[in-house]
Amino acid sequence: MDLKEAGIDEGISEVIVTTKSASGKLNAAPIGIITTTSEDKDKDKNNHFVKLYEGSKTLSNLMETNKLMANVTDDAVLFVKAAFDNLNETYFSFFSGLPALTEANSWIIFQSVLAEECSEFYLFQLTPIAVKINRKEVKAINRGLNAVIEATILATRYDVVIEDEREKEELKKLMVHYAGIVKKCGGRREKEAMGILDENFLLLDE
Ligand SMILES: Cc1cc2nc3c(=O)[nH]c(=O)nc-3n(C[C@H](O)[C@H](O)[C@H](O)COP(=O)(O)O)c2cc1C
Repeated sequence: MDLKEAGIDEGISEVIVTTKSASGKLNAAPIGIITTTSEDKDKDKNNHFVKLYEGSKTLSNLMETNKLMANVTDDAVLFVKAAFDNLNETYFSFFSGLPALTEANSWIIFQSVLAEECSEFYLFQLTPIAVKINRKEVKAINRGLNAVIEATILATRYDVVIEDEREKEELKKLMVHYAGIVKKCGGRREKEAMGILDENFLLLDE
């Protein structure tokens, strides 16, 4: 199944992954879908993976159900909210029994198999089993959106290094840099997203 049409291309595609626990609890988190292309040109086969670090709900849900939904979206606010809030049920729709984000441009359901496990991460190989394209968008690159994504990754890292004052300071310095780019280049959604990060990290008035 070629997922290019649905927005998943070579390299790492940042999406919002939605999952359901065995007991039915819904979860959403920003996660990178890794796509490698086989060297064998005749086969031209794409392989999809996800690398999950210890401690996330996404990891425990995937261990329980072996299924995830990749939601393709460029909504900066959804990325920040999925990283830090528990998205309430008003954000979700259902596609083939799995939770999806209503506002996403496309949905891809993947079946997962654990491919590698080490002390730092779990690597799952993903096989797409269903795709739905809700909307196709043509959009120029906005540096503000890219900056929100970078700042959100740093913000999720901040929680992990909570004991290390020097690394926290370094992360915050970088986040302030990205907040400046959002101020200059971002649209309303990017500014709203950075506003949520600012509430937690006080980035904008430095
Ligand atoms: C753009 C972006 C990409 C991310 N990619 C990954 C990833 O590939 N693997 C991972 O374990 N965490 C990744 N994270 C961090 C998780 O989103 C973060 O740990 C989150 O809090 C997990 O939420 P959960 O406990 O609801 O699953 C990423 C964060 C961002 C902002």
